[in-house]
Amino acid sequence: RTEDVVVVGSLNVDLTARVQRHPLPGETVHATALATSAGGKGANQAVAAARLGARTALVGRVGADAHGEMLLAALRADGVGTEQTHRDAEAVTGTALITVADTGENSIIVSAGANASLSPADIAAAQPLIAAARVVSVVLEVPVETVVAAARAARAAGARFVLNLSPVVDLPAEVLELADPLIVNEHEAREILRRNGFPVPAENIGHATGLRRIGARSVVVTFGADGAVVADAEHAEEIPGVPADAVDTTGAGDAFAATAAWRLSQGDPLPTAVWWATRVGACSVQHSGAQASYPTLDRVLSGAGLPK
Ligand code: RIB
Ligand code: NA
Repeated sequence: RTEDVVVVGSLNVDLTARVQRHPLPGETVHATALATSAGGKGANQAVAAARLGARTALVGRVGADAHGEMLLAALRADGVGTEQTHRDAEAVTGTALITVADTGENSIIVSAGANASLSPADIAAAQPLIAAARVVSVVLEVPVETVVAAARAARAAGARFVLNLSPVVDLPAEVLELADPLIVNEHEAREILRRNGFPVPAENIGHATGLRRIGARSVVVTFGADGAVVADAEHAEEIPGVPADAVDTTGAGDAFAATAAWRLSQGDPLPTAVWWATRVGACSVQHSGAQASYPTLDRVLSGAGLPK
């Protein structure tokens, strides 16, 4: 297979305002800085994986506008394959309006734009690429029917299907059952459990075993600085967190999922893949922006940027 990780997902231009604290409804606050940068959960994953050394391509859509050009250029600069990243003459490029507070915590409004046009036909056109992949990693912000088509295409190709169900939407059982793993953060995990009538688990590990019972083959739930929990048919375990001084958590979940997908493509067992993912996620929160904050493999290995 010639691709380690083929990502199916969104591309957004991120318009990020830094604020001391998030505004309340009806309130105006002043930004201390404003940045325009490459983002979107799909593009972020593709760049994160490529920067670590994975052979990566992205199936997605941007508009035929300057932001779309910027996003494609960002992918190419990191060596991400863009032959299935389409420019849509009819749509504007997806846009995320982000505020990042002094705590490092963000809030995001996403306007889908061209991402809403990524279709099952685009997945069919990408079938040769998907057939060349060891892992197909899918993230939301694209239509559900496209996620379904991508899951089926991965199964048909015999590729491992990694699903970062972010943001949470209701998906057919068929898709969850193919997820190996399903990756979500603690809030998303509780939301999925709630929608399926499960109680909120008392322990971290219960989030992963609960989601296993909903149908995923394997599950990873992230708890920020507190690490992650993994569960599959045989066992469940906690992976400790890596201490980090969070400057900007935007895109940390994408870096986490991409790293796990890459390590799985190299044959690591799930807990080992997640061990890597916690490290790369911790590197990313210490720098501003999403893609701009993702480390190279050298930086992860040297521990640079990680507190001793
Ligand atoms: O996960 C972070 C991403 O979410 C941002 O880059 C933004 O584009 C939104 O899609
Ligand atoms: Na960051």
